[in-house]
Amino acid sequence: MSVHIEQTQKMTTSRLRAKKQAGEPISMITSYDYTLARLVDEAGIDMILVGDSASNVVSGNSFTLPITVDAMIFLTQGVVKAAHHALVVCDMPFGSYQISEEDAVRNAVRIMKESGCDAVKLEGGEEILPIIRHLIQAGIPVCGHLGLTPQSVNQLGGYGLRAKEEAEADKLMHDAQLLDEAGCYAIVLEKIPAALAQRVTQAVSCPVIGIGAGNQTDGQVLVLHDMLGLTQGFKPKFLRHFAELGNEVVSAVQAYIQAVSDRSFPNNNEQY
Ligand code: KIV
Repeated sequence: MSVHIEQTQKMTTSRLRAKKQAGEPISMITSYDYTLARLVDEAGIDMILVGDSASNVVSGNSFTLPITVDAMIFLTQGVVKAAHHALVVCDMPFGSYQISEEDAVRNAVRIMKESGCDAVKLEGGEEILPIIRHLIQAGIPVCGHLGLTPQSVNQLGGYGLRAKEEAEADKLMHDAQLLDEAGCYAIVLEKIPAALAQRVTQAVSCPVIGIGAGNQTDGQVLVLHDMLGLTQGFKPKFLRHFAELGNEVVSAVQAYIQAVSDRSFPNNNEQY
């Protein structure tokens, strides 16, 4: 019975830290709706990220920038209802934390109150440190995000590998240490060399979750629709398709169209 209690226990930031200390890998994945989040939670994931990648995956935008606080709250509400075990993290969208510390706290409090999520995630290092400190002082668990930070795509000039050069790698290491000292409960590292990600992971006390950052971080995160093979045509080097559901969906819908066309659906058992 105690095993059952252990398995169904809600994930917390302190349990994530304990996993790092015990050398147990942490799993994180995105979800943007109740139905898929239920399956993801049932599978036993540690953390669900309601990522601002919803802007691309759900709304078909080329960038994460357009998504709003209201949209993030709406999506997160469904995920929170489904997550009995996983810790739910909501991305603070572009423009919701950069303006001022007060504005950031107001938006984060709104996100926490109205969606019921457990934590928020923000992109950036030293530049947004005062903002991160204010959020943490307000009692809001914060996950950092360094390396490729898609909200700054216009400044970065694209979605390429980050921190290849020494100066940027040094800054990233410094930023990670600052976020750790400020009290971030975790840091996401996106699309950076594996050796750098390993050094950062060893240098900080909080869990480090990688995406395109090698296998020596404390955990991994992927966009659910990408790893299920639903986002066809998007296959960066770091991405593994754990299923080909895109093909399955097309085949299923084609079979449905055929069955409608030849009137084999609905059959006698599928009508009243
Ligand atoms: O928005 C998102 O999905 C993310 C992950 C890529 C880490 O930030």
